[in-house]
Amino acid sequence: MTSTRKTYIIANWKMNFTPGEASLYLHRLEGRIKPSRNVQVILAPSTVSLQPLSLQINRRQFKLAAQNFYWRDYGAFTGETSVSQLRGFVDYAIIGHSERRYIFNESEEDIANKVAAALRNNLIPILCIGETAMERRDGETAAAIYSQLANGLHEVSKEDISKLIIAYEPVWAISSNKNAHAAKPADIDEAQALVRKHISKVYGKGVGESIPVLYGGSVDHLSAGGYLSIEGIDGLLIGGASLIADSFCAIVEIAKGMKS
Ligand code: PGA
Repeated sequence: MTSTRKTYIIANWKMNFTPGEASLYLHRLEGRIKPSRNVQVILAPSTVSLQPLSLQINRRQFKLAAQNFYWRDYGAFTGETSVSQLRGFVDYAIIGHSERRYIFNESEEDIANKVAAALRNNLIPILCIGETAMERRDGETAAAIYSQLANGLHEVSKEDISKLIIAYEPVWAISSNKNAHAAKPADIDEAQALVRKHISKVYGKGVGESIPVLYGGSVDHLSAGGYLSIEGIDGLLIGGASLIADSFCAIVEIAKGMKS
């Protein structure tokens, strides 16, 4: 993490909390997390909580992110929510999370379409990429990262690339909560360098160096400082530990401490 860039701490609440519970939890966080210019805290509740939370949050303190949406702006798509319906509520959108790729079979084409839809609607895409355990075992980590970036960014122009955030989340490290499976700083450092190399090659060195690259995968308050101290890592995408106020607030404090 370089001191001049902003740090992003993103809470992915996944399919947890009813709107009422989300609201109560937001109140707990509000009392403990003060706004900061250097550390942007982003909450990603489930879709049903986005509208109520958008009315309650102080946008200087927190921003909201969608966990998912459909890429078309309107039409006959029963059960789907478009990004144009969400854009009044959220500033960011998580796209290409491994749970969407592997549980819901989202294709690279879906992901590229979602990135384009988010940009078209003035939302900042948080594009998640990361290799599976099998790809890592077979020595295909770099190939997986390059191909997910090339596919996911297929529709992204030179003008728009600097609006994105990339989250490196190795699939084998997500929700593992086992130290044996935790990603090592060297793995993360290597991955962020691959991301920056690809983006530099396609879009130019400047944006390759400046684009925010986050890490996600079983981060908690004990491991956060180590991950944030990796040069080239600009923040964290947090699942399980973001549901526990003490743990999440401690992570935000660590990020702020490293910026001061
Ligand atoms: P985890 O989830 O922190 O529970 O591993 C991270 C994620 O899925 O984004």
